[in-house]
Amino acid sequence: MKVLSIFGTRPEAIKMAPLLNAMEAEQAIDSRICVTGQHQSMLQQMLSVFDIQADYSLDVMTPGQTLNGLTAALYAALDPVLEQTTPDCVLVHGDTTTALVGAMASFHRRIPVGHVEAGLRTADVATPWPEEMNRRCIDQGAEWLFAPTPRARDNLLAERLQGSIYVTGNTGIDALHMTARRLHADTALRQSIDRQFAMIDSSRKLLLVTGHRRENLGDGIIELCQALRTLSQRDDLQIVYAVHLNPAVAVPVRAALGGLPNVHLIEPLDYLAFIRLMQRAHIVLTDSGGVQEEAPALGKPVLVMRDVTERPEAVAAGAVRLVGAAADSIVHGVSELLDVEALWRRSARALSPYGDGHACPRIVDALLARPVDEFTAGDDLVKPLAGRAQRRAPHLAAPSVTLPAHRV
Ligand code: UD1
Ligand code: UDP
Repeated sequence: MKVLSIFGTRPEAIKMAPLLNAMEAEQAIDSRICVTGQHQSMLQQMLSVFDIQADYSLDVMTPGQTLNGLTAALYAALDPVLEQTTPDCVLVHGDTTTALVGAMASFHRRIPVGHVEAGLRTADVATPWPEEMNRRCIDQGAEWLFAPTPRARDNLLAERLQGSIYVTGNTGIDALHMTARRLHADTALRQSIDRQFAMIDSSRKLLLVTGHRRENLGDGIIELCQALRTLSQRDDLQIVYAVHLNPAVAVPVRAALGGLPNVHLIEPLDYLAFIRLMQRAHIVLTDSGGVQEEAPALGKPVLVMRDVTERPEAVAAGAVRLVGAAADSIVHGVSELLDVEALWRRSARALSPYGDGHACPRIVDALLARPVDEFTAGDDLVKPLAGRAQRRAPHLAAPSVTLPAHRV
């Protein structure tokens, strides 16, 4: 079976990397890779970390690209790749413009599509914008729908789609397990990453920040900066903000926060360094989808700067709280977690409702029409845990997948 994987942004590369490995190891699959270059340096960082060699490397990114400009460039660049490769299946991931156009261009050429991370939904087609629309469109025409959780499966079932649904867990959790194991096993690697963060003062609690959603550009970024300014006055806290390269993020953030002694603005990190930093964090503040899934698995409380999320499982479990994008509510959310130890402890339980680290072999089995041993642990893990007794899912207790949550 010839499978062409199409992806182009940082999170897609991270979440496709373990699947590419699993397909490479499978003799019955001839795996080809097309990277679109929707992101340039942020994609390149991840191709290097995961040693991904693309068969086709497109170069569609332009600074400050518009959605329609990017969409047009992707159709023009992808069509010849599809024509030349004639795959039996195209795999796309998630809800980016690359994923949407990859799926639609394949549909136009009558090539079956597999959607990795299918079925995530909010109730509002414009939130997140434009991703909610993208993923709904992709799911309409996909032949294989790889739902990360039972809840995502239920969303797909409610839409009465034509494709076959498999609950696999999120491939991002496979990438996280792989990386956490690598960091755990390699002291020299950990130490060399830590040397990059010599500016971090271990006596203060670390607030790790990321933010990039298009619906938060403009007012949302200004509110976030105001909140971080206020929080930076606390003596017990230091802030590390990995600033996204989108100029609509980087320019206002650097103008508002550059030079503040207690706020470290850093460039996007490669995945190994970012996971290491998350392991050292006390609280994570983000609007990222992937970070919302990873931080709970590392036992880190997450505040999400959005009003709704398509990833409600960790919210239900108490590890993630939605604080919206207003400065006051961000400050309040962070301050509460800093000041109320019991609240922090309740939020800092390692939970993994999004996967058990075995999503990729399940996807390979489904592609090859083998029986799929579906991911089910999410059902248990979405329930809030009773009292103080933590019930950990058996797969998290197994040494092969236990995530070492290093604190300093
Ligand atoms: C995109 C995805 C979003 C995903 C995010 C991950 C869409 C519609 N959105 O949003 O779902 O969460 O990626 O980060 O597909 N840039 C660089 N260098 C890079 C990457 C980006 O300079 O390596 C700058 C460019 O000016 C580019 C801009 O960021 O034009 C925006 O990139 P784009 O991919 O359009 O949007 P994101 O906000 O990154
Ligand atoms: N990430 C990273 N370096 C950073 C910031 C994030 O490697 O400096 C990783 C993070 O661990 C997660 C992914 O990038 O796996 C999330 O990407 P992003 O927030 O850009 O996109 P989203 O997940 O919101 O689509």
